[in-house]
Amino acid sequence: MAFPQSFLDELVSRNPIDEVVSQYVQLSRKGSNLFGLCPFHSEKTGSFSVAPEKGIYYCFGCHKGGGVINFVMEIENLDYPDAVRFLAKRAGMEVPDDAGYQSTYRRQERLWALCKDAARFFHGKLNEDCGSEARAYIVRRGLSKGTVTRFGLGFAPGGWSALIDAMVNKGYEKQDLLDAGLALKSKEKGTIYDRFRNRLMFPIIDVRGNVIGFGGRVMDDSTPKYLNSPETVIFNKRKNLFAMNIAKKSRQGRIILTEGYMDAIALHQYGFDCAVASLGTALTEEQAHLLSKYTSQIVLTYDGDEAGQNATKRAIPMLEKAGLQVRVLRMQGAKDPDEFLKKYGADRFKVLLDGSQSQMEYRLQSLMGRYHLERDEERVQFLQEAAKLIASLQSPVEREIYGARAAEAAGITAEAMKLEVGKAFKRRMAIQRKQEEKKNLAPAAAQQPKVRGIRYDDIRSAMAEEGILQMVLREESLLDGLRDLPGAMFSSPLLGRAYDALRQQRLHGGLCSLAALEGQFTKEEMEHLSGVAQKGSALVNEEALRDYQNTIREAYAKREARQDQDLMALRNRLKEKKGLDG
Ligand code: UTP
Ligand code: MN
Repeated sequence: MAFPQSFLDELVSRNPIDEVVSQYVQLSRKGSNLFGLCPFHSEKTGSFSVAPEKGIYYCFGCHKGGGVINFVMEIENLDYPDAVRFLAKRAGMEVPDDAGYQSTYRRQERLWALCKDAARFFHGKLNEDCGSEARAYIVRRGLSKGTVTRFGLGFAPGGWSALIDAMVNKGYEKQDLLDAGLALKSKEKGTIYDRFRNRLMFPIIDVRGNVIGFGGRVMDDSTPKYLNSPETVIFNKRKNLFAMNIAKKSRQGRIILTEGYMDAIALHQYGFDCAVASLGTALTEEQAHLLSKYTSQIVLTYDGDEAGQNATKRAIPMLEKAGLQVRVLRMQGAKDPDEFLKKYGADRFKVLLDGSQSQMEYRLQSLMGRYHLERDEERVQFLQEAAKLIASLQSPVEREIYGARAAEAAGITAEAMKLEVGKAFKRRMAIQRKQEEKKNLAPAAAQQPKVRGIRYDDIRSAMAEEGILQMVLREESLLDGLRDLPGAMFSSPLLGRAYDALRQQRLHGGLCSLAALEGQFTKEEMEHLSGVAQKGSALVNEEALRDYQNTIREAYAKREARQDQDLMALRNRLKEKKGLDG
């Protein structure tokens, strides 16, 4: 994927980062930077900075950063080419002809249109004679008219080509139906037939409002109960969640994650407009990431059966890694939220929701389940394990509360528990202190990049390289005086590459900003570079610039010399060997 650099330069200039970010984040000025609440992690004080002059954003809290394209990728959940297209549209620019890109995008647009038309077709069938059974099923499941409309539910007729015929009539090709996963090809005859037949249809819509696939449920006991669209160029199951297009607008301050279409829909019908469902698969990292863009709190309501509980256990660390606060809702007397709501109503569910277990409660309860607490020796083991768990809480009040709760559950006195937690806490602090001492002994470690996968081999040189980058990003004309310092002399390949790319831009009269170079770096690399650019104040200072250059050259010379020595040693060894052989 290569867009012409001149186009990217113009795209970046015509989409000032402060303007674009302001559409999502409220910013206020502090010196040359703008600050606001980070949209990528939850926080109460703004550590999210935007530097309009440098064309970048950077969060001092979660270390996310990049240029305007990267920002759009993150916040709109787009890949690089789509983010470019998004910004081109915003600025009223034509995306230059790029055959591969254009054709993929056009292909996607066609399949989106087809899926939307298919959804309309299925929805329309509900009101026809053939839809009577589906209508009855809808009533049986207690779905209201409003719900059917809101989710665009529909009916896929029996027979083998109802959808195909209708869509071909509208001008779609059979290949379109195959590519969208709506039709299948028979092996023997080579003819194509409808994938979804005689099913209640649930359109799956992405956060941008495109219909990307379907789930279809049988209306009796036949199998499979649910049939889903396969992966297609527009349907990526790992990256999407059912009903996310609605839940993202919810103001309820959390997102309820369910296992099934029906659960999510029932929740919406009962007023919980923040429910989503995973698409018949285990929760993925991408989905956790998507969720973290719209909320800071997740409530898990997976089924109470073993499979559901295992799914819960797997989902928790994944969601936490995405910076989300996780709570687990436990239901009694019903197997899933849909059933619960029908049996007990929304108010009872609300009580569960507000009291849904915190992480700690859930962990304690799981721990309890593993011991026979009526046996003395197991009770002691439980006590120790629970104490370790509770000692990981930072707040003394919380340690006290959970300590008391665990004690009560295990039939131990609160005092005994407190003592045990105290010991565990001291041990933890001692370990932490040791680790910190170790860190302080090696201050260089503090300078290492925060971004995973990026390391500096030579901290001293890398600091000088960062300094030069900071300065040339502030004052690009400095690059003219640095012609005899190529990026190849940098000890950090990443910093060297960024520096060289800027030199190229300067040489060709392009935009000398990180934002213009986003296509050339991975997300992690861009995050790191933005962090570097936002780190120091980096006033232009001729003397510092000279020092930096010297440092880099010296380090480079040393590396070269070492390499020469290594080569020499190798040659000598070879010679010796020959001598021996000869
Ligand atoms: P469940 O079997 O728990 O069904 O599947 P449910 O949500 O309670 O559905 P109803 O109430 O019987 O209608 C949970 C989810 O797993 C996926 C679907 O996404 C479903 O919503 N699933 C289940 C399939 O993809 N295929 C199946 O055959 C069954
Ligand atoms: Mn169900």
